[in-house]
Order: sequence, then C-alpha cells, then structure tokens
Amino acid sequence: MEDFVTFKSFDSDKIESQIERGMETLIEKAVEPIVPKALPKEIELTLNARLGDEYTAYYFYRNAANWCKGVNFPKAAAFFEKEAAGELEHAQAIQDYLTQWNLYPDIPAVETGRAFLGLVDLINQAYELEWNLLQKYSDDQKEIFRDHPATFNFIQGYVDIQVGEVAEYSDYLNALQLIDTRSKLDILMFEDKYFG
Ligand SMILES: [Fe+2]
Repeated sequence: MEDFVTFKSFDSDKIESQIERGMETLIEKAVEPIVPKALPKEIELTLNARLGDEYTAYYFYRNAANWCKGVNFPKAAAFFEKEAAGELEHAQAIQDYLTQWNLYPDIPAVETGRAFLGLVDLINQAYELEWNLLQKYSDDQKEIFRDHPATFNFIQGYVDIQVGEVAEYSDYLNALQLIDTRSKLDILMFEDKYFG
C-alpha cells in the first residue's frame, strides 16, 4: 500500500534533496544532445547502389551526346545533353536524402564508357537502361514497403521518373518501327522530327 506523507512523517530535508537530485537529472538531460537517427543499413546500401546507377546513366547520356555530336545528329545531341543533366540531378537528390538522414553517401565507382553502333542502337540501349532501372526501383519499393515508409515515398519519385523515361523511349522505338531503319535518310528525318 502506498505510504502517505502525514504531518508526522513529513521530512522536509529528504524531500528537498529529492527535488535537488531530480533537478540535476533534468539539467543533465537538457545539455545532452540526442543522437539523431539514421536510415537502416540495408536501405543505406540500396540507396548507394542506386546512386551508382544514376551516375552510370549520367555517363551513358554523356557518351550518347558526344557520339551524336561526332556523327552530326545535333538535335539528338542536345536532347542527350539534357538527359545527362537530369541524371546528375537524380544522383544529387539521393545524396541529399542520405545526408538528411545523417549518412555520408558512398559514391560507387561506375562504368563510364559506352559505344554505339548507330542511332537505333543508342535508343535501344537507352530503353534497356531505363527499363532496368525501373525494375530496380520497383524491387526496392517492395523490399522497403514495411520497414521504412518514408524511403518508400522517396523512391516513389524515382519510379515515377523511370515510368516517364520508359514511356519516352517506347515512343521513339514505336516511331522507329514506322521507318526503314536501314535508310540513312529515314534516320535523318527521324532525328529531325523527334528530337527537334
Ligand atoms: Fe535517372
């Protein structure tokens, strides 16, 4: 049964010292900063891997723009320049998310070279790259769904980007079905019409 403080048992010194100890604990807590939380290790590893994929995409489009400039597809070159810039933004946003969560991004080494046999080959490769990345981000969402809803939402933005990219390259591939891809003139007209 709980003891009641009666007039007889009231010990002012004891209570004062208890209050003092309580205050000391409060003051200690007040000057002790909380260590902020980070992302779970698995999620950190996944995001660092995607960071590598975004840089891979950046180098892919840089090579694509260079190739288009070299063979004189100026409109396609300008288009791929923009794609490369977009990939850098995607990489930046992943790094910002990691640092927001008190983690230091671990930028992976990635493949920087890429060769193209023609504009159709380039578009085929771009489609495959974007499709594969859509699969990766979609798989990441399935893994993260229950463990970390905030990161699930963050990755949703990347799934949306990938859906847009896949749709865009699908359009180019569909347009290529309409022309004779062995005809240089058809390819020139394709470049002018779709990248103009
Ligand atoms: Fe991207």
